[in-house]
Amino acid sequence: MTAQIMEELVSLCKRRGFLFQSNDIYGGIKGIYDYGPMGVEFKNNLKQAWWKSMVYERDDTEGLDASILSSPVVLKHSGHEDTFTDPLVDCRACKSRWRADQLLVNNKCPNCKSEDLTEPRPFNLMFKTAIGPVDDGSSFAYLRPETCQQIFTNFKNILDSTSRTVPFGIAQIGKAFRNEITPRNFIFRVREFEQMELEFFVKPGTDDQWHEYWINKRIEWWVNQGIKKENLKKIEVEKNELAHYSKRTVDINYAFPHGEEELEGVANRTDFDLGSHTKNQNDFKITSDVMKNSSSTTKLGVQDLEEKKWYIPYVIEPSAGVDRGVLALLNEAYREENVDKDNKRILLSLKPHLSPIKAAVIPLKKNNEELVNLSKEIKSNLQKLGLGRVVLENSGNIGKNYRRHDEIGTPICLTVDFETLEDKSVTVRDRDTMKQERVSIENLSEYYKKYFN
Ligand code: GAP
Repeated sequence: MTAQIMEELVSLCKRRGFLFQSNDIYGGIKGIYDYGPMGVEFKNNLKQAWWKSMVYERDDTEGLDASILSSPVVLKHSGHEDTFTDPLVDCRACKSRWRADQLLVNNKCPNCKSEDLTEPRPFNLMFKTAIGPVDDGSSFAYLRPETCQQIFTNFKNILDSTSRTVPFGIAQIGKAFRNEITPRNFIFRVREFEQMELEFFVKPGTDDQWHEYWINKRIEWWVNQGIKKENLKKIEVEKNELAHYSKRTVDINYAFPHGEEELEGVANRTDFDLGSHTKNQNDFKITSDVMKNSSSTTKLGVQDLEEKKWYIPYVIEPSAGVDRGVLALLNEAYREENVDKDNKRILLSLKPHLSPIKAAVIPLKKNNEELVNLSKEIKSNLQKLGLGRVVLENSGNIGKNYRRHDEIGTPICLTVDFETLEDKSVTVRDRDTMKQERVSIENLSEYYKKYFN
C-alpha cells in the first residue's frame, strides 16, 4: 500500500511538473533531481514559510546566505574530514557497493545474493572539487555537507555587524551535498539537497531548556504546514549513534510512504563548533573534545557582562531537509476521491500558503476576446497583491483545467463566463469542497486576501 503511494507520488510529480530526474534525457544521475515549474514554486513557498517563522516573526535571529564551496581547513576543524563517513561494503561477485547498515539479513548482497562481501570500511561522503585553473590536487575545496559550518565561521562577522547578544540565532537555507552510497526512496535520500538550519546560540547551562523549546517549536511548525501530529514522532538518538559534535539529538521522524524516518534533527552541539574554529583555546573553558590546533585567528566567544569573562556559547540546532519536507507534505496532501460513481479525481490538499499556484483564472471560451481580456485583467490584479503565483488558463476546457489544478493543489479556480459580462461576477470553485460561489469582481481582491490569510 505505502509503496503504491510512493509510485503515485512519483508519477504525479513527473506528470504535473513537480520533479524530474536530473539529466533525464541522458539517462539521469542517481540521487539527483530537478524541481519543475510546480516544484520550484512549492519548494520556494516551503522555504519562505520557514524563513518567515525563523527570521521575520522572531526578534532574536538573523539570516545568512553563505558559500557552498568550503575550505578543507573548516571541514578539518569541524570534524568532517575525519568522521563524516558511512561504512562501505563491496560485493566481490557483482561489484556492487552498499552501505553496511543497509545490507539485508544474513549479510548477503541485495543485488546478487552473494555472501562474498568485503569488511565494512569508512567512506567519506564529501564531494571534492578543484579550485583555480590548475588541478594538481594541491588546491581543492569541498561542497559543503551541511549548511551550518559557514554560520559558525561567520559568527564574529554577524556579532560585529549587528547588535545581537546571546541568546540569538542565525538562520540559513541552502544546498548541501553528500556522496550517499545508496541514494533511495525518491527525494528522501539524495546526493544534492537543501537544508533549512538554525544555529541558536545560548549560555551553557541554559542549553537543555532551549533544546526542549526548539524540539517542540519545530514539531508545531511542521503541523502548521499540514502534517498530522500523529504522523510525527520524537526519537531520542542513542548515545552510541550521536554525531561527533552532539551532546543530545532528538530526531523528528515522519511516517514517509516507505517507512518512518528522519525529517528533521534537533541537536545540542554544545561549544564543539565555535570551540573548534577558535585559536586561543586556553582563554576559554571548552567542555567538548575539540581540535587543539585550529589555525583560525578568531575567538568565537562572547563576553558575560555580569561575570566579566569570555565564554563560548553552546548551540542548539534544528536542521530540516527541504526535500524531505516536500516529500512529507506531498504525501500528506495526496488524495483520491470519487466524484460520482463513474469518475474519480486526484487532488493535493495543500495548505494554501504552500500551493504552487494560488489561483487560476479561466475564461469560459478561449477565443472570446472580451472574456479573455477580462480574465487577463483579473489575473493581473490578483497577481499584484503579491501572495504568490496566479495563472491564466486559456484552453477553454473547464473540466480539464479543474482536474489539473486539483492535482497541483490550486486552492481556487475563478471562471469568467458570459454572465460575468452582465453581472460583473465570477464563479469561484474551491479545490477541497468543489463548492462554487459567485463573487463580484469589485470584491475579489478582499475575498482573495481573506482566503489566503
Ligand atoms: N547540520 C546538521 C545536519 O546536517 P543531519 O541529520 O545530517 O544533520 C539534517 O541532516 C537534515 O538534512 C536531515 O534531517 C534531513 O532532513 C536532511 N538530509 C540529510 N541527508 C540528506 C540526504 N542525503 N538527502 C536528503 N535530505 C537529507
